[in-house]
Parts: sequence; C-alpha cells; structure tokens
Amino acid sequence: MELNGATVLLTGASGGIGAQIARALDSRGARVLLNGRRTEVLDELRASLGPHAHVLAADLADAEDAARLAERAGRVDVLVANAALPASGAIDEFGPDEIDRALDVNLRAPIQLTRALLPGMLERGRGHLVYVNSLSGKAASASSGLYSATKFGLRGFTAGLREDLHGSGVGVTTVYPGFVAEAGMFAESGVELPRYVATVTPTQVAHAVVRGIEDGRAELDVAPLGLRLGAAAASVAPVTVARLQRRLGSQRIGRDIARGQSDKR
Ligand SMILES: NC(=O)c1ccc[n+]([C@@H]2O[C@H](COP(=O)([O-])OP(=O)(O)OC[C@H]3O[C@@H](n4cnc5c(N)ncnc54)[C@H](OP(=O)(O)O)[C@@H]3O)[C@@H](O)[C@H]2O)c1
Repeated sequence: MELNGATVLLTGASGGIGAQIARALDSRGARVLLNGRRTEVLDELRASLGPHAHVLAADLADAEDAARLAERAGRVDVLVANAALPASGAIDEFGPDEIDRALDVNLRAPIQLTRALLPGMLERGRGHLVYVNSLSGKAASASSGLYSATKFGLRGFTAGLREDLHGSGVGVTTVYPGFVAEAGMFAESGVELPRYVATVTPTQVAHAVVRGIEDGRAELDVAPLGLRLGAAAASVAPVTVARLQRRLGSQRIGRDIARGQSDKR
C-alpha cells in the first residue's frame, strides 16, 4: 500500500521504537496521528515531523478513552498498533490492576482499535493493519510470562485476522523484534546482554513496519538469526529450548530486565 498521503494512527508514538516509526512514516509522506499518554513527548515529536502530523493523546488502558481515540482519528488508512507495557516479572510480583493494565494495553486495545477502524477500510477496499509484536510472542522465557501471554494472544489474533481479510484489500502485518538497543523498553532497563546475544535498532523495526505496509508482508522478524532460530525451535521443542535458555543464564537476565522495567507497570 502507498504511504504517501495515507493517514496512519500510530500508538506508542512517545516510546523509543514508536518515535522512530513515526519518523519513517512521516518521511514517506504519511499523515501520522501520534498516540500515547505523555503529551509533552508527543508534542516534541510532532514538532520534529512534517506539517501533517497530529497528536491524539489517549490512555489505552481505559476502554472508553481507547474507543474515543478511534472516533477522534476519523478516517484511518493504516493502524500501527505499537504501544505496549513490558509486563515483566514473576506473576506474584504484580498487583491485580497491573495485570489488567498489561492485558488492556498490549492485547485488548489493539483488538478494539481494529474492530473500530476496520469497517471504514473494508468499505474503501483499502487499508493496512500493523501489529508490533515481539519474539516473546513466539517463545516465552523467565520473567516474561505475562508479557508473552499478551504477545502470544496478539499473534493468534493477527494470524486469524489475516485469513479473514484475505482478498479484502486490507493487509495485515505482524512485526516481531528481538532485543532492541538504543531506545525503548529493553534499552531503558539498563541490562547488558551476554556478548553472544545481538540486538537490533529502532530504525530496523521502523523499516520493517514500512516494508510490511508498502510490500504487503505478512510476518517480519527483526532479530539476529540465532534468536529467530531459537524462537522457531521453541514452538516445536519448548522444554528443550527452555533448558538451553536456563543454561545460558536466562533466569538471571529475565530478573534483571524485570527489575529495570519495574517503573513501567
Ligand atoms: N524494546 C524492545 O526491546 C522490544 C522488543 C520486542 C518488541 N518490542 C515491542 O515494541 C513496541 C514498542 O516498545 P518500546 O520499546 O518502544 O516501548 P516503550 O519505549 O516503553 O514505549 C511504550 C509506548 O507505549 C505507550 N503506552 C504505554 N501504556 C500506555 C497506555 N496506557 N495508553 C497509551 N499508550 C501507552 C507509551 O506511551 P506513554 O508512556 O506516553 O503513555 C509508549 O509510547 C511494543 O509493542 C513492544 O512490546 C519492544
């Protein structure tokens, strides 16, 4: 789908990866509607983009606010559902509200936004839906059970949705990043990974989003080969892969990341 002149609703625009996605879409001539809660960050981002970008702040953990966001956005050609909470840590470390918030932001909001925006796209016979998932949507690891629950759920939703929309003119892309350096929820945790685990950049994720829309790609992994193979192997042999992950120190790394992300619940 052509991005030039298209209206794109981007959630999580105030985050590390979202800001880069906003820049990439803006540079292709799209009119980007920037969503997040922190208006000061969104305003600053908008000021750095072209004249067509707009801020549409809303709290996606609030069902009514999320529904209003879809209404306020008006005609949307492309949804990029990118907002998420890291939801890291052992489940008994979460309060009930924190669990609900993670499910709401990471899973319910993308589904509800899709429901709200899809009819217009189908009527026009043109549109694209992009979901920023994670390799944690393919393979779970220590301290990531809740996050993986939301991302596995999102993966199931988008795979089914893609089949429902086949031939409708509305495309569905799911992007699966591995660990992202430089900015975003992992980088902000301050955790250093062992040298054998390579990272990717927000720019690479943003390129994948653009490629998904322009080339109509269904699934795009943005991660080094080793992590991609590990995630694929986890679907066929989860217990063996978990044992290997444990030997490589995944439990300590998971705990460290969760500690570094405890302010994002
Ligand atoms: N960083 C990584 O290593 C990595 C790896 C794989 C996948 N991902 C995925 O990439 C996407 C972007 O992550 P990121 O690293 O950029 O995270 P981030 O920097 O923590 O940004 C998260 C974004 O979500 C928004 N958000 C959180 N709660 C919200 C709420 N209640 N209502 C509205 N917006 C809300 C935040 O906006 P406000 O704070 O302004 O509300 C922010 O824009 C996520 O889907 C994440 O799962 C990231």
